[in-house]
Amino acid sequence: MAALKTTPPRLIRLASDLEIPQLGYGAMGLSQSYGVAKDPESKETLRHAIEIGCQLWNTATIYGQDQHNEKLIGEILRESDNRDKVTLVTKWGLKLNDGKLQPDGSAAFARHCIDQSIWNLGSPPDIWLLHRIDQTVAIEESVQAMEDARRAGKCRFIGLSAMSASTLRRAAKAGKIDFVEMEFSPFETAIEDNGVLDACKELGVKILAYSPLGKGALTGKFKSFEDFEKEGDMRSTGLFPRFNRDAWEHNVKLVNALEELAKEKQCSPGQLALAWDMQVHGDLIIPIPGTKSIKYLDENWASQNVQLNAEALAKIRSILRENPVHGEQYSEAMNHLLDHE
Ligand SMILES: NC(=O)c1ccc[n+]([C@@H]2O[C@H](COP(=O)([O-])OP(=O)(O)OC[C@H]3O[C@@H](n4cnc5c(N)ncnc54)[C@H](OP(=O)(O)O)[C@@H]3O)[C@@H](O)[C@H]2O)c1
Repeated sequence: MAALKTTPPRLIRLASDLEIPQLGYGAMGLSQSYGVAKDPESKETLRHAIEIGCQLWNTATIYGQDQHNEKLIGEILRESDNRDKVTLVTKWGLKLNDGKLQPDGSAAFARHCIDQSIWNLGSPPDIWLLHRIDQTVAIEESVQAMEDARRAGKCRFIGLSAMSASTLRRAAKAGKIDFVEMEFSPFETAIEDNGVLDACKELGVKILAYSPLGKGALTGKFKSFEDFEKEGDMRSTGLFPRFNRDAWEHNVKLVNALEELAKEKQCSPGQLALAWDMQVHGDLIIPIPGTKSIKYLDENWASQNVQLNAEALAKIRSILRENPVHGEQYSEAMNHLLDHE
C-alpha cells in the first residue's frame, strides 16, 4: 500500500487566494448510508482530516436525520481556528415528503436552505450546490437564487449535482457555474459519454467526484454480497442495483482485476481508483471519498503518492472494457430524482 507521506499534495487553484489539494473528503457516511457511525469517532476523523491537510469537505442539508451531518461539521468548525483550514461544500434542494426524498429547486426553498446551512455550520459554506434538479422549476430560477446568495456573501462558489449536460449548459447561461458534483470512478464513468465531462471542460467547471470508491466497491473490502454491513447499509437495500446479489457477483470481477493491477503498483485498490480519478482527466476532477475512520482516511489521502503512467492508464481502460459494470446506477424508486432533460 502507498505510504502516508504525500510530497507534495496535488494542488488545484480555485481563486487567486485559494489553492486546495486535489483530494477532498465526503462526510455523508458520518450520518447515513454505510453502517452506523458514532459521533465521538466521527469527530476524531474530522479533526484528523484537518491535521493532515485534507481541506475540501463535502456535506448536504439532507445528510442524516435533522441535518445531523451539517451540525456535526459545524461543531468541529467552531473549535479554535478550524474554519480557516476547511473549504466547505454543502448542498440544498432536496427535502423529505412523507419519508420520501423530493427535489425542490425553488428560490424560496433556496433562501430557507442557505440560512439553515449557515446556522448549522456556524459560517457560510464556500461552495453551495443544488443537490438534485427539480423538473418542476426552471433551472434559471435555481441558479438565480444561488447567485443572489453569492451576492449577499452567503457562499463563494456555486454549482449543481447529478444534472445532465443540457441542464448544465442552460444553467451556465443563467449564472457562473463553478462546480458540479457527479459520480465518477472506475465503477461509474457515464460522464465521459453523456456530454457532462465535455461541457465541464468547455465551460471551465471543476468536477467533485462523488462515490469515487464506487460506494466502497473498489476498495476490495467486499468480496461477497454478505460482506456489506448488516445495519444501516444502503448497499443491501436494492436502491443501487449494482450491489444486488447477481450484479455484485459479476461486478466483483472488475474489482479483482483492478486489485491485481494495484498489487503491481504497490498500492491498495482504493488508492488506485482515487489516483485514476485524479489523473485521468488532468486536474479537472476532485474526488471526495467518504469514510468514518482515521485509518481509511489516511489510506485514501496517500493515494496522492500513486503515479499512473500512460501504460497504467491504458491498462485500467482495458480492464474497464473487459469487465463492464452490471446493473443501473440507481433503482427505479430513485428515478424521480434523476435529471431527464
Ligand atoms: N451529490 C450526490 O448526489 C452524492 C451522492 C453520494 C455521495 N456524495 C458525496 O460523496 C462522498 C463520497 O461518496 P460515498 O461515501 O457515497 O462513496 P465512496 O467514497 O465511494 O465509498 C464510501 C465507502 O467506502 C468505504 N471506504 C472508504 N475508504 C476505504 C478504505 N480505504 N478501505 C476500505 N473501505 C473504505 C467506506 O467505509 P466506512 O464508512 O466504513 O469508512 C464506505 O463504506 C459522500 O460522503 C458524499 O459527501 C454525493
